[in-house]
Amino acid sequence: MQPPNHHRPLKQLLADYKHGYSLEQDFYKSPEVYRAEMQQIFLKHWVLAGHTSQLPNAGDYFLFEFDVESVIVVRTKDGSVKAHMNVCRHRGSRVCLEKQGTAQALVCPYHAWTYDLDGSLMGARQMADDFDKSVNGLHPVHLKMVGGLIFISLAENPLSLDTMFADLENVFDLFGFDNMKVAHHQSYAIDANWKLAVENYQECYHCAPSHPEFAKIHAMAGSPAKFQACKESYLASLDAAAASTKTKTRESNAYFDLAEAGDEGYQYGRNPLLQGALSGSHNQGPVAPLLGKLEGYDGGASEFMLGPMSYFLIYDDHMLAYRFTPTSIDTCKGDLYWFVRSDAVEGKDYDKEKLTWLWDVTIKADEEIIVNNQKGVNSHFYAPGRLSDMEYFEQHFLNWYLQAIGSYK
Ligand code: FES
Ligand SMILES: [Fe+2]
Repeated sequence: MQPPNHHRPLKQLLADYKHGYSLEQDFYKSPEVYRAEMQQIFLKHWVLAGHTSQLPNAGDYFLFEFDVESVIVVRTKDGSVKAHMNVCRHRGSRVCLEKQGTAQALVCPYHAWTYDLDGSLMGARQMADDFDKSVNGLHPVHLKMVGGLIFISLAENPLSLDTMFADLENVFDLFGFDNMKVAHHQSYAIDANWKLAVENYQECYHCAPSHPEFAKIHAMAGSPAKFQACKESYLASLDAAAASTKTKTRESNAYFDLAEAGDEGYQYGRNPLLQGALSGSHNQGPVAPLLGKLEGYDGGASEFMLGPMSYFLIYDDHMLAYRFTPTSIDTCKGDLYWFVRSDAVEGKDYDKEKLTWLWDVTIKADEEIIVNNQKGVNSHFYAPGRLSDMEYFEQHFLNWYLQAIGSYK
């Protein structure tokens, strides 16, 4: 046991980590660890900021925020999407205060410096003659589109996405990543360190006890042996059914500890649903029009991850995106987005309640177990516990995480 408020140095925590076990308490409590995470993870990696369908018109914007950072994602007058730091170049005020809105220009509420939607400084009142507006635009943020998904990176030199794009081009084409819209977006505040939320999403060991609804639909909630057998027969059935083979896109795993230096990590795979299930819904039936080029349901769902914070689950007729971001050392936020085909009409082609039911129920259950996890981790009696075989991906995540913060200076 340690005296309260005493945290062991990061170096020592890293050296003492025992493979196959959960992390020590200080990984969730120490300000030094949190600073390392911000620098090595959140200010370096690509993260989902939102989707173009949230910005239909010029001047539409939304904020993407984590920890102390705030980014304005905006549709400019020429129709492109840009991202700028929400930090005024005068004395640093937030420029946009609303989480989303529409503006002709971005006007700082403090002394009214006025920025064009593209970030350049247009007007600064009563400034000296030698003041150069051209070098005082809002700090630009790197932005890449994955279909209509908007990814941003706060790094000076962002990790490359080239390998990922080349590898998964057929996946984006098949599921129509260019042809989706956000049907619903919901934020869930979680009173826990962000890692407890992300770690929970790396494993399905908890699915059977915590998610009866999910476990009725997804084979992965079963034992590893059962799941593996189910997956093999599912993939064999895709081979046999010519019409469905398109969804049997190759598994790709360059994620977490496996990504090449300089590349962003990602992972893609397709998994079986349980017998007869077509989609993630109350009655396991369809909830929206088929995505992209799919011609029918094949009883599976794909998982896609890009960077350590953004996760996607692609059913044949809708896609979910999850993102976990820290709001402080011991609080975080889960954001869920539900996507449907861009031409699907609410009330006619899909019912929002039916579409969102499974994952709203699931994330609420997750929120509860994650918060309970944090409460136990806070105890003086918490000690790292042995991981199960069903938590192998959690181990991948921990390997990557330790490696990522290990180079913190
Ligand atoms: S801080 Fe923005 S105009 Fe002064
Ligand atoms: Fe869960």
